[in-house]
Amino acid sequence: MTKLLTLTRADLLCSANYIGGAWLPAASGARYAVEDPASGAAFADVPDSAADDARLAADHAYAAFDGWRARSARDRAGLLKRWHALIVANTDDLARLISREQGKPLAEARAEVAYGASYVEWFAEEAVRAYGDMIPEPARGKKLMVVKEPAGVVAAITPWNFPLAMIARKIAPALAAGCTVVAKPAEDTPLTALALVQLAHEAGIPPGVLNMVTASRASTPGVADAWLQDPRVRKITFTGSTAVGKSLARDSAGTLKKLSLELGGNAPFIVFDDADLDAAVNGLMAAKFRNGGQTCVSPNRVYVHDSVYPAFAARLAQRVAALAVGPASDPASQIGPLINSRALDKVAGHVADAVERGAGVLCGGAPLRRPGDDRARYYAPTVLTDADHGMRLAQEETFGPVVALFRFHSEDEVVALANDTPFGLAAYFYARDIARVWRVADRLETGIVGINEGALAAEAAPFGGIKDSGYGREGSRYGLDDYMHTKYLCMGGL
Ligand code: SIN
Repeated sequence: MTKLLTLTRADLLCSANYIGGAWLPAASGARYAVEDPASGAAFADVPDSAADDARLAADHAYAAFDGWRARSARDRAGLLKRWHALIVANTDDLARLISREQGKPLAEARAEVAYGASYVEWFAEEAVRAYGDMIPEPARGKKLMVVKEPAGVVAAITPWNFPLAMIARKIAPALAAGCTVVAKPAEDTPLTALALVQLAHEAGIPPGVLNMVTASRASTPGVADAWLQDPRVRKITFTGSTAVGKSLARDSAGTLKKLSLELGGNAPFIVFDDADLDAAVNGLMAAKFRNGGQTCVSPNRVYVHDSVYPAFAARLAQRVAALAVGPASDPASQIGPLINSRALDKVAGHVADAVERGAGVLCGGAPLRRPGDDRARYYAPTVLTDADHGMRLAQEETFGPVVALFRFHSEDEVVALANDTPFGLAAYFYARDIARVWRVADRLETGIVGINEGALAAEAAPFGGIKDSGYGREGSRYGLDDYMHTKYLCMGGL
């Protein structure tokens, strides 16, 4: 039932699994529908894979491992550079696919392609710098050396919110390190991932080195379980919910795999009384409304010092109320639909709960029904005031275009509030007092801290959390280490 999207290259609309260098259906022949996030209407379909498809992918990845790791780092880097060039050359088609299946406006989708491509380029460059070490010997007659080795077959399970960037930043370091990959993209957004694989194929990534299977929500546990139980799969890298991340950690214990888990966040954003308020509003707009708030590092709790609260709230509400909400295909849209009806229900539920518990609504506060489309999943960009920690939106990630403003009076109080969550992915604060900047940066319990800055992610920086936000890092030289083992060589008799 695949209906053509308007792509310059129609062959980038792929609708099969990619295993051992060939495009294959699921062994059962089953397929599932890919839905337009705005309406829920099906517009394409892909294989609904099961455990046997996942095992076949692992067979090929395992068989390809020795050959791939034996190639020189420069050789692997060269193939990654070709892949990077193809991604950049096909930006418009990839952006159309992202917008179509994920719903983010086209300009933002293009930015995602550039962002994802930057990881491929970065890890092509890092592939040749996976250095080891010489250790000064504690006793004469020996040499102590450390070498880095690829972890083995990697299973990558990726989310829907950045259908290209998240898969690129897992696959690129894995391939750079000399690992081979089996991947499963999010059930909502398989098309961008498959197009990326097609480009990897064209770049010359050898058969079996990169394999991808698609699966519906119902079939995903079967695919994941096949990889979790398989001793040949040596590493799992996952971005998604904390609940699923914990179950992957539990279920992979039997084969003691290496794990990278980039899980949920509940980011605090603090505006101190000495902050540049305009800069803070700009930073919040950039961080909060990227992908309509459907971003793990999106600020979820905005703490504003009592003395600047009214001024900040007024400036913010003016900006938020002016955001244009609409379909990804409309160049005027700044905020697209939420990914599915569950997401819409969650956002609406958080706002209803907050209002019931005493929050005020400065703007938005309800789903947006577009004329003639009663199934639309748009939510009006919203600013809530007088939020407190008894509200659901303080405890859970809202993952939508809702800003909740909390009031605070002192530095100690706000640091305690910011850290009062099981999550620890990102935190942001705006302040000018340099002593305060260092104090607060030291005390925030997160893997990432934005100081007078709302745009944090970059291929050169380590992205990842602590506590219930997971472990492992993506991007930077630390992101390559996560795909490698450290091997110690001791040479004696010298
Ligand atoms: C995420 O939402 O998981 C990733 C966001 C980013 O890369 O900035």
